Amino acid sequence: MAAVEPQVSYVSTDITGFLEMVISKLGWSDLSDDIVMDVGCGNPKIKLANLLVNFFPNVKQVICIDKNLMMIHYLKISKRPSSIVYQCADIENRSSLIKWEGQIAKVISTHCFHMLHDQRAGFQNVYNLLKPGGEAAILFCVQSGYVGWHCELRDDTKWNKYYNGNAPEIPSTQLTNIDDSYYTAMLEEIGFRIILCEKDRIGVPFESENAWKDMTFKLALSSFDIPEDLQEEFKKHLFEAFLKHNCRTDNGLPCQSSYFLTALLRKPDVMNN
Ligand SMILES: C[S@@+](CC[C@H](N)C(=O)[O-])C[C@H]1O[C@@H](n2cnc3c(N)ncnc32)[C@H](O)[C@@H]1O
Repeated sequence: MAAVEPQVSYVSTDITGFLEMVISKLGWSDLSDDIVMDVGCGNPKIKLANLLVNFFPNVKQVICIDKNLMMIHYLKISKRPSSIVYQCADIENRSSLIKWEGQIAKVISTHCFHMLHDQRAGFQNVYNLLKPGGEAAILFCVQSGYVGWHCELRDDTKWNKYYNGNAPEIPSTQLTNIDDSYYTAMLEEIGFRIILCEKDRIGVPFESENAWKDMTFKLALSSFDIPEDLQEEFKKHLFEAFLKHNCRTDNGLPCQSSYFLTALLRKPDVMNN
C-alpha cells in the first residue's frame, strides 16, 4: 500500500465521531416519535444506545439487537435508561426480525456488518425493518490491515506451526477487492435512496518506529507462540508483512491502514420519495 494521510475526510470509526457525523448529515433533531434499532450492539463497554439517549433523551425507544444470546443476557441485566431494550435477533435471518418490520425509524450499526456471511440479506432486512422515510447509518470494516498481516503469517508454512488459533475478527470481504460501487449497486437494487456510500481508507499512524515495532510484535505474540531463538527472524517477516498490508505516512511513520464502508441510506417514502 502507498503512503496515506493519517485520517481521511470526515469518516470516523469511533462510535461517538460516527454518531455525530450521522446526526449532522441526516439532520436528526427530535426522535420523540422514533424507534431506533442498533444492529449488532454487543459491546458492553461502548454502548451506542446510551450515547444516543444522551444526545436524544426523549427518543421513544432504542431496540438493541445482537445474535449473541449470552451478550444480550449480560446487557439485559446491566443498568440502563428505560427507553433501551435488548433483544436477541439475527440481522441475516428475517424470521427473527419480522415483528419489527416497517416500524423502525432509524437503524444504526457499527462494526457488525463485516461479520455477516450474506451482507445483502443483512441490508435487505434493514430495508424491511424501516418504515417509509426511515433511515439507516451503517459502518463496517471491508478490509483490515491488521487481518492482512495476521493471515499472511498464519498461512506461511514456516510460522503456521506456531499459530495458537487466537484470531482477530476476519471481515467476510477481506480477500475481495470490493469497491463502493458494488455496495451502491446492491443498495439501489434493494430500493434504498443513497445519501452516502463511501469506502474510505482510515490510517492510524504509530508514534514512532520503536512504538510500531514493540506494539506489533506484542500483538503478534498473542497469536503466535514463537520460540526465543526464532523471534528475531519472526520479527523481520512480521514487519515486512505489516508494511505490505499497511503503509507509511508521508513523513515515514508506519500506519495501520484499513478500509471502512460508511453507508447513509433512506427508504423511500411513498408520498415524498
Ligand atoms: C465487533 S462487535 C461490535 C459491537 C458494537 N456495535 C460496536 O460498535 O462496538 C460485533 C457484534 O455484532 C454481532 N453480530 C454478528 N453477526 C450478527 C448478526 N448476524 N446479527 C446480529 N448481530 C450480529 C456480534 O455478536 C457482536 O456482538
